[in-house]
Amino acid sequence: MHHIAALCLLSALSLQAQIQYIESRKIFLLTTSKNSYAMGLGQDGALRHLYWGAPIWRADDLAAAPARRDISSFDPRQMLEAEEFPGWGGPRYYEPALKLSREDGVRDLVLRYTSHSIQQNNLDIVLKDINDGVEVTLHYHIYPEHGILRRSATLRNGTSRALTVESAQSATWNLPPGEGYQLTYLTGRWAAETQLNHEPVHEGQKVIESRRGNTSHNFNPWFAIDAGDAAEEHGSVWFGALGWSGNWRIAVEQTPYRQVRVTGGMNSFDFSYPLKPGESLDTPPFYGGYSSGGFGAASRMLHRFTREQILPGGATSRVRPVLYNSWEATTFAVNEQGQKDLATKAAKLGIEMFVMDDGWFGARNNDRAGLGDWTVNPKKFPQGLKGLIDHVHSLKMDFGLWVEPEMVNANSNLYRAHPDWVINFPGRPRSELRTQMVLNLARSDVKEYIFDVLDKLATENDIRYFKWDMNRSFTEPGWPEVAATEQRKLWVQYVRNVYEIIDRLRAKHPNLEIESCSGGGARVDLGILQRVDEVWPSDNTDAFDRLRIQEGFSQAYPAKIMSAWVTDVPNMNTRSTPLAFRFLAAMQGALGIGSNLNKFSEQDSALATSMIGVYKRIRATVQTGELYRLASPRTNDVTVNQYVSGDGKQAVVFALRHAQQYNTAAPTIRLRGLDERAIYKLESINNKLVEHQQQFSGAYLMNAGINVNLRGDFDATALILERN
Ligand code: DGJ
Repeated sequence: MHHIAALCLLSALSLQAQIQYIESRKIFLLTTSKNSYAMGLGQDGALRHLYWGAPIWRADDLAAAPARRDISSFDPRQMLEAEEFPGWGGPRYYEPALKLSREDGVRDLVLRYTSHSIQQNNLDIVLKDINDGVEVTLHYHIYPEHGILRRSATLRNGTSRALTVESAQSATWNLPPGEGYQLTYLTGRWAAETQLNHEPVHEGQKVIESRRGNTSHNFNPWFAIDAGDAAEEHGSVWFGALGWSGNWRIAVEQTPYRQVRVTGGMNSFDFSYPLKPGESLDTPPFYGGYSSGGFGAASRMLHRFTREQILPGGATSRVRPVLYNSWEATTFAVNEQGQKDLATKAAKLGIEMFVMDDGWFGARNNDRAGLGDWTVNPKKFPQGLKGLIDHVHSLKMDFGLWVEPEMVNANSNLYRAHPDWVINFPGRPRSELRTQMVLNLARSDVKEYIFDVLDKLATENDIRYFKWDMNRSFTEPGWPEVAATEQRKLWVQYVRNVYEIIDRLRAKHPNLEIESCSGGGARVDLGILQRVDEVWPSDNTDAFDRLRIQEGFSQAYPAKIMSAWVTDVPNMNTRSTPLAFRFLAAMQGALGIGSNLNKFSEQDSALATSMIGVYKRIRATVQTGELYRLASPRTNDVTVNQYVSGDGKQAVVFALRHAQQYNTAAPTIRLRGLDERAIYKLESINNKLVEHQQQFSGAYLMNAGINVNLRGDFDATALILERN
């Protein structure tokens, strides 16, 4: 009874006052439906972290920010305190959230509270240096239903002299004091992205980052930390994800004083950002959350949040169409007739969007020429794009086009006309990767040029979708046209200008959708996701490899944005998997086909048509439902994922067996997220169910479970459950 009363009060409070400030004790308490976050002001005016965890509702329970004492001359009190946004100054030797240098060489920065304002779900806290006008506004925004807190900071030079920012982080997240934490994070490389890692947090720092100019394949800006006892469906998990597509850094630090802090934002490596008097610098958003329901619940929180609050159009955006992409079928050998033939075949299978990939422009017959020359190749497309687009439309499909606007080949008209437009250090080599260089989008003239190119393409042609690719990282990151002291702003300005181009394009062409691709998954983060509809997670389309890539991807990102193609075998691993297995792997995201349809047998086409039909029945559940990871490809010989629709009426289970050994039956599948009392009608899309009937209660499905007959290697099924 007591418990119920507390819950009612909590929901009443969380509806009325999600952000509270208790004047008498100088405490801020931010509460969402899933967690609370608290800070307090010390006697000295320092802002200290107090709490991050399951929801609490009574601000009076919180002690005022505790004042500490020095333990020794080597262990000053500042090292023991959990400062909310520490400047680098005084006796602080851990990772700072902000570090700067003034014109006269003074680098000490000690921040104290000056004021705050609360407006609905927003809290701004203004801190100022103890001596001069360096001012930091900490921004907090809570998403009450989603359980997510967004943090960022604005640094303003309120002094009368120039200063240079050396490190500008978005947030420092303090975990409850303790030890034994475990860190979960994503690593990878080209064609092997989003691999899941789980390891103990030790004293010292663990850094995940990008120094490449883009988000990178190597690490993804997401983390989860648990107290050492969490699993997929239980336990406390603290997590965060950065919204920044340039150099970023997340440092997980355990101090000798049983503190664990996560500090993240723009990478301070090769970072230097001068601010004249009155100028300011905004740091990117760092989203954080806490879940008491394990890694699965943490993922589901991020999925829903991203779908509803980050993606363009939010909850109202359409489910992703089934697309065809020409890349693996034709590579650069595209032409009007060849693409028309593929389009005709694609339409028969039920494809809804036809995307022509690389090779349609300039002298682009291989990857050594043509990038930068965004005019249609007249030999390949004598009627311009119109002939192909009209054909695609006549087949009732939308048309999408591949572009790589940030790049140039040395062998291009653009580079011959503007060799100064690429990122470079004068007199130094211009490293070419995939024989291409990076245009300096930080420059306004280059930015405007790229905007005009894309705007013209979208204005002159009926293009529904750009696949926006970026196939290399930065090297020799010089910007010779500006003063040496300003050049490192490139890391930041480049990203801002990419964002600006996309934002302006979308505003001018409201129907245009965009896929973010960077040689696979090197540009997947919550910053780019505010402006694109899908991402390409990996150039590796081997369905077996994909299972692990997708598992890692799903920790942080929703299925709706995860473009997933069925392609031909043998693939890059020289592995062959059956077409049904490839479909069932790809149907767990935004389904696409990348096969050479000219080589499809009648049987292949029939299977593809039927799988695409099934996908259309279940895609809303996959793309916008709740994901339950029932069996991981890392630890089982079957990968099992379940998706439950928002209204609970439909659930879909994918079970993909990698290899059978010792004639062992596939394990029993125990479902989750169903209504115990409800009856569900069960259907296996390819008759793999080993059961005596096809109707079961939710309780039975979740507790006793069901069995599927998966035999041999790469056997797979999907089960569709409809609630009666
Ligand atoms: C890299 C992408 O990831 C591929 O899907 C394809 O678009 C190629 N670039 C084209 O050059």
